[in-house]
Amino acid sequence: MVFTSKSVTRNQPVAALSDETEEAKGLPTSTSEELDQRGREGDESLEHITNRDQNSERYRERLEQEVLARTSELHKANADLAAANSEMEVFWRSIPSILVGLDARGHVTRWNPTAASVLGTDEVSPLGKHWADCGIQWRQPDMRAEVERWLSTDKPLHQYDNATFEKGNQVRVLGLGVRRMWFAQEGKCGFMITGADVTERRVLEDQLRQSHKLEAIGQLAAGIAHEINTPTQFVSDNTTFLKGSWEPIAALLTFCWNSIQPETKSHDTAQFVQRLHELWHKGDMDYLLAEIPKAIHQSLDGLQRIAKIVRAMKEFSHPGSDEKAPVDINRAIETTAAVTRNEWKYVADLVLQLDDTLPLVPCVQGEFNQAMLNLIVNAAQAITGTVVEGLGEKGKITITTRRHGVAAEISVRDTGVGVPEAIRTRIFEPFFTTKPVGKGTGQGLAQVHSTVVKRHKGQLWVESEPGHGATFFVRLPLAVPSDGTA
Ligand SMILES: Nc1ncnc2c1ncn2[C@@H]1O[C@H](COP(=O)(O)OP(=O)(O)O)[C@@H](O)[C@H]1O
Ligand SMILES: [Mg+2]
Repeated sequence: MVFTSKSVTRNQPVAALSDETEEAKGLPTSTSEELDQRGREGDESLEHITNRDQNSERYRERLEQEVLARTSELHKANADLAAANSEMEVFWRSIPSILVGLDARGHVTRWNPTAASVLGTDEVSPLGKHWADCGIQWRQPDMRAEVERWLSTDKPLHQYDNATFEKGNQVRVLGLGVRRMWFAQEGKCGFMITGADVTERRVLEDQLRQSHKLEAIGQLAAGIAHEINTPTQFVSDNTTFLKGSWEPIAALLTFCWNSIQPETKSHDTAQFVQRLHELWHKGDMDYLLAEIPKAIHQSLDGLQRIAKIVRAMKEFSHPGSDEKAPVDINRAIETTAAVTRNEWKYVADLVLQLDDTLPLVPCVQGEFNQAMLNLIVNAAQAITGTVVEGLGEKGKITITTRRHGVAAEISVRDTGVGVPEAIRTRIFEPFFTTKPVGKGTGQGLAQVHSTVVKRHKGQLWVESEPGHGATFFVRLPLAVPSDGTA
């Protein structure tokens, strides 16, 4: 901005302000006093004008300085802003997560390079497009309806553990969080989508889950072998007994048969009766008649036990799909109780109080079985600390199922050592264990937590009175959550 001012020369005579005197203009001439007076007045106004101009000059200079200072401040602020902007841009570009901005209609406003590389687009073409139309081959049934849900509710965060899409010939899995954001300046909301490709992590988790399962089956193998061995043993003993019994029975039957054949038939009744007596007593037929039905019954019983444990093992280790499916959790608990029998039978009685009106529960059966196994084994181990195996009273494990509103509730109660208050918040942490090396891995309750809470969106908690046992509660929703978080 430029300031201008008229300068006035201080020594110029007052009369010079005008070319004509009053006389020349034909006005009445003034007296010399009047002229003096005017002269003085002229001097005063000249001084006044001069002062005013000096003030203006100083004011102008001050203004100029202020403008200069302000301009340089603005320059600096601009430079700072530009630096902050480019810093932001560097951050934005170097964040290794997907970062996508959406406006209040679900249209893309920002799309960072990680989003481009993970989702298989360039950085520019998604801008301005609806999230459902950005060229991502979603496997979700209807992404547009999903966006409508974000727009129509106030929910601050929508989370997806398992958003799948096709990239090239591969199916990739994303973990996504969609946050509602309020832009006060613009008076409207938008969304920030953050996330990452978790395909590899999922594969590793699956492998880990699988290896935990195999590990558990490995741990159970000895017990299961024992469980099968006992009935196999008495089926085998009984069969040997039946084999030995068959000889005198066959001799007796052959003698009877021959006695009625025309060519070998004896007409000496007394001799026949005596021979019959001999064979009967020699073969200990009274004993065989009493024992053989028992042996057959016992063997059938043993074979049923073997069949049950083999079936339980099969169900336990091949429990069907890795997706949620309607599961009869009572049956799953019976199965798990059967395969773990050797873990608890020496220290506890196991009581099942299963509500047979319980509906099927949507769950991943393999993981549920594994969780039940971990709770039962923990209960047995907690009881082992309080009873001397084979002596005195056994402890008790009670498993109850019931419906609780829109959830199925399972409780596993034991009469063991209980969980001390001090560690109650830590027991669900991975690798937390109070058991000696080789006995505890600290993975049991972590698996239960991840299955119940993460995978099934259920609840898990423990109630315990140290010294008097513990009860672990599990609640599983009876309906699959509708937000696609499978
Ligand atoms: N039923 C129970 N009674 C008492 N303590 C328990 C019970 N279940 C689990 N705990 C405690 O929680 C810890 C973690 O359990 P878990 O994750 O199954 O690992 P681990 O059994 O290998 O130690 C156990 O070491 C134990 O201290
Ligand atoms: Mg355990």
